[in-house]
Amino acid sequence: MKPKYKRILLKLSGEGLMGNKPFGICGEEVLRLCEQIKQIHDLNVEVCLVIGGGNIFRGAKEAASGMDRSMADQVGMLATVMNALFLQDCLLKLGVDTRVMSGLQIPEVCEPYVYQKAVRHLKKGRVLIFAAGTGCPYFTTDTGAALRASEMNCEAIFKATQVDGVYDSDPRSNDKAKRFDEVSYDEVVEKNLKIMDISAVVLAKESKIKIIVFKQQDEGSLLNAVCGKGLFTVVK
Ligand code: GTP
Repeated sequence: MKPKYKRILLKLSGEGLMGNKPFGICGEEVLRLCEQIKQIHDLNVEVCLVIGGGNIFRGAKEAASGMDRSMADQVGMLATVMNALFLQDCLLKLGVDTRVMSGLQIPEVCEPYVYQKAVRHLKKGRVLIFAAGTGCPYFTTDTGAALRASEMNCEAIFKATQVDGVYDSDPRSNDKAKRFDEVSYDEVVEKNLKIMDISAVVLAKESKIKIIVFKQQDEGSLLNAVCGKGLFTVVK
C-alpha cells in the first residue's frame, strides 16, 4: 500500500466513538479507530486529527432548546477535549507518539495550541490532535478542522462519515441516491450537500485542500482512502 499524501488531517465525528452505545465513548471503537490511524502513521503519513464532541454534547442543539449559544459551544468544545484525551491515551498505548493541542487554554490537561510547536510536533512524526475546535463559539469542529488543515499545510482533509461518500440525497433514506466520485466545492455549497458546514468548505477551497469523504466504520477504509483505493468522494 502506497499513500498518496504526505500530510493529512483526519476529521472524526464524535458519534463515531459511541460504537453501539447511545452516548459517550466505546473503548473497542476507539481502539479500532486508533489501529486504523496507526496503519497510516506506520506508512509515514503525517497525521493531524480533529474530533467532534457530539457523542457527549452538541452545542448547537442545546442552544436551540434554550441554552445560551456561547456557553453551549464552550461545553461542546470541552467535550472534544475529552474525546481527544481518550484517543491520545489509546494511540500512546499502541506506541504512536501523540500530542493534544487545545484551542482553549487548559494547560493542566494538554498543551495550548501554538502554531510553531504544532509544526515541530508534526516534523517529529507525532500524531497531533487538535482539541476544542477553533477555541471560539459559533464555529463547528468542521471549521476548526479546515482552519488547522490550512495552518498545517495539509494536502487533504479526510472526513469520516456514516456513509461512503457524498450523495445527491441521503442514501440511508433514499435507495436511489446517487454517489459522486468527485464533486466541486461550489457544488457542495450550491446544492447544500451537507458534508461539512459551508464555512469549512469555503476555507478548504481557498486553501486548495481536497476533502475526501469516506465511511468511518468500514474496516481499512482510512488506509484505503489514503492510498486512493476503495469508495470515497473527492471534493476539489
Ligand atoms: P520536543 O521534543 O523538543 O518537541 O519537546 P517536547 O514536546 O518533548 O517537550 P515539552 O516540554 O514540550 O513536552 C514534554 C511533555 O509535556 C509532553 O508529554 C507534552 O505533551 C507535555 N506538555 C508540554 N506542554 C504542556 C502543557 O502546556 N500542558 C500539559 N498538560 N502538558 C504539556
